[in-house]
Amino acid sequence: MTTTEQYSGGYSPLIIDQFKQRTFAKQGAFLQPYLTAGLTVLDCGCGPGSMTLDIAELVSPGAVFGIDYSSIQIEQALLLQQQRAITNASFTTGSAYQLPFADEQFDVVFSHAVLYHLQQPEQVLAEFRRVLKSGGLVALRDACHTGDMMMPWHTDLAAAWDTINKVFCHQGGNIYFGFQHKQLLLEQGFEDITVSCSYDTFASDAEKDSIRSYWQQFLNVDHRPLILAQQWLTASELDQQCAALDHWCANPASFFARARCEAIARK
Ligand SMILES: C[S@@+](CC[C@H](N)C(=O)[O-])C[C@H]1O[C@@H](n2cnc3c(N)ncnc32)[C@H](O)[C@@H]1O
Repeated sequence: MTTTEQYSGGYSPLIIDQFKQRTFAKQGAFLQPYLTAGLTVLDCGCGPGSMTLDIAELVSPGAVFGIDYSSIQIEQALLLQQQRAITNASFTTGSAYQLPFADEQFDVVFSHAVLYHLQQPEQVLAEFRRVLKSGGLVALRDACHTGDMMMPWHTDLAAAWDTINKVFCHQGGNIYFGFQHKQLLLEQGFEDITVSCSYDTFASDAEKDSIRSYWQQFLNVDHRPLILAQQWLTASELDQQCAALDHWCANPASFFARARCEAIARK
């Protein structure tokens, strides 16, 4: 496998719409007690900005900066900002590896569901450390497939997850990354590390349908050419794995609980 980093999440309207449903109250709950009015916060890999704007409301009159590699995401974030009439948020395109911010600019750096897509997360943590004030906090939340529950389990679902893993590895990411937070933060010199875990759950018909569409878009649309070109699967094997997601979704008793590792640490 090659290991050239390329974000595997894609920017289809379907996937962006799902990210827009994320709220800081839910996905950022582990950090919420630390956010107070007046803080300056960076949301790195902010996507379409729904959580960035929630943070802006919490820290007002402080400021939040959202940065993302993708201009598609930043355009969505700016639209959402207009709709919500929030003035203490700024959005810009840029790379997590070379943040366009001064040393010691932020009280808090938040990065949700980003580092597990990256080939060199340790370099990004060093960059987070650079832009954090002394005593500032970094807060991370990432997938860790070890803890996932997609129930009832089936060998075809296991095969689909194996394919998802192959795509992530090929693009430079790691679906098992979350458990590495503490080790990497220690290596970068962070202190007072708090680790927690939580789940994003998909149990109602609408939630299950959304996550089924998400992974089918990932496997059958965004990465189908790669999967076939790499000969990881034949077309009929890939179809079978996508059908397994349909069967899982149609089962009234099924649910998916996606494990997320969380860490907060001080510079
Ligand atoms: C899974 S999405 C998460 C978006 C948002 N944080 C959320 O949870 O809804 C990951 C985001 O990270 C961005 N990203 C990936 N690699 C990046 C990099 N090297 N620098 C900045 N952003 C990056 C992608 O463009 C994408 O919007």
